[in-house]
Amino acid sequence: MDTTSFNFPTDTRVGPGVISQLNETLVALGIQRPLVVTDSGLLATDAFKKLAGALLPGEPDRDWFLHSDVQPNPTEANTRGAAELALAKGCDGVVGLGGGSALDAAKVCRILIKQPQLKLADYDWEADWSGLLPFIAIPTTAGTGSEVGRSGVVTPDGAGSKGMFFHPELLAKCVFLDPDLTTGLPPGLTAATGLDALTHCIESYTSPVFHPLCDGIALEGIALIIHALPAAVADGSDIDARGHMLVAAAMGGVAFQKDLGATHSLAHPLSAICGVHHGTANAICLPHVMRFNTQHKPGVYRRIGLACGLDVVSCSDAEADGQTIQFIDDFIQRCGMPPSLEDVGVEEQNIEALADQAWVDPCHQTNPVPVTREDLKELFLKAL
Ligand SMILES: NC(=O)c1ccc[n+]([C@@H]2O[C@H](COP(=O)([O-])OP(=O)(O)OC[C@H]3O[C@@H](n4cnc5c(N)ncnc54)[C@H](O)[C@@H]3O)[C@@H](O)[C@H]2O)c1
Ligand SMILES: [Zn+2]
Repeated sequence: MDTTSFNFPTDTRVGPGVISQLNETLVALGIQRPLVVTDSGLLATDAFKKLAGALLPGEPDRDWFLHSDVQPNPTEANTRGAAELALAKGCDGVVGLGGGSALDAAKVCRILIKQPQLKLADYDWEADWSGLLPFIAIPTTAGTGSEVGRSGVVTPDGAGSKGMFFHPELLAKCVFLDPDLTTGLPPGLTAATGLDALTHCIESYTSPVFHPLCDGIALEGIALIIHALPAAVADGSDIDARGHMLVAAAMGGVAFQKDLGATHSLAHPLSAICGVHHGTANAICLPHVMRFNTQHKPGVYRRIGLACGLDVVSCSDAEADGQTIQFIDDFIQRCGMPPSLEDVGVEEQNIEALADQAWVDPCHQTNPVPVTREDLKELFLKAL
């Protein structure tokens, strides 16, 4: 047995209305001048109004500041704008409100607040990560799990591909999973972000890394998503479904500290080169990757089938995987996802560049089956 380490540390508040506990958390963390980082799409939502209402009560000395210039698939420029505002206003903490884009920008901007003279590309594992401002994460989508993760995905200046910034110091001090903040998320984004969470659970469970704690969390996350996601898509005001999806997404985020797989290596360049939403890219590619994996490692999806409620205990490996993959494929279509990459604007002329970037993306290194650049190209062509 190899040595390893397990860590599940984040203080997480769950349930309708928990955003009202934000005030006491700010007090406990000694934050008087929080910087709120979000994207402009959220400013008109109830989620933003609820956050604004929760920021001030009873605290006359508190002042808060807003950076809402975060684009989907955020860039270094987005994080630098946030850092400059925080420095100009003397902020002493960062509150991220939004989907993975806003949360990642909020998480990562703290690097540039600490060392504004640096570029993000200068930051790697060897850098000094100590002394970052405290971070509070409030997700308004239920998908990425960024709120409980140690990584932030931001495209560095001048880079054509996404950068992954990873360090335990990036973790949030406190997370609020309040389903009242996600009821306004439209059905298409509810489905796409929820299927990102499903992909996290499936890819982390099937990664060959030894981490049975994450495996258990991933399987339970799958079971929650299979029940809650169709309900949340059908009726956005279903608080139980919204709450279960927020918890499942956080579970996916915890589970994939174990690692991800080839689907994410395909999805990252689809966002960077073709602008496809991250969850949508995963949803379209996942069944193709599953079909590839089962050919080389039959039985790899049996326990996922069981988590989905399928009776695959006594099937052959090939049959168990076949039924599971068909179920996941149908589930993705039932959630209303576009069936092919062509439907989201990807063209055959993009495939070589996509395959190049997918090949250098690290996620496929923990795919249950090793992949070559040609395999990744073939998977893109199948998904096209
Ligand atoms: N850090 C991680 O561990 C991690 C994991 C997976 C993905 N990611 C990253 O997360 C990003 C994707 O995040 P996402 O899928 O959550 O989407 P997103 O954050 O890009 O948001 C998509 C859209 O949804 C809108 N929106 C969000 N919440 C809303 C609400 N409650 N009501 C109405 N509109 C709302 C936003 O305004 C935005 O226009 C990508 O950049 C991806 O690379 C990070
Ligand atoms: Zn993802």
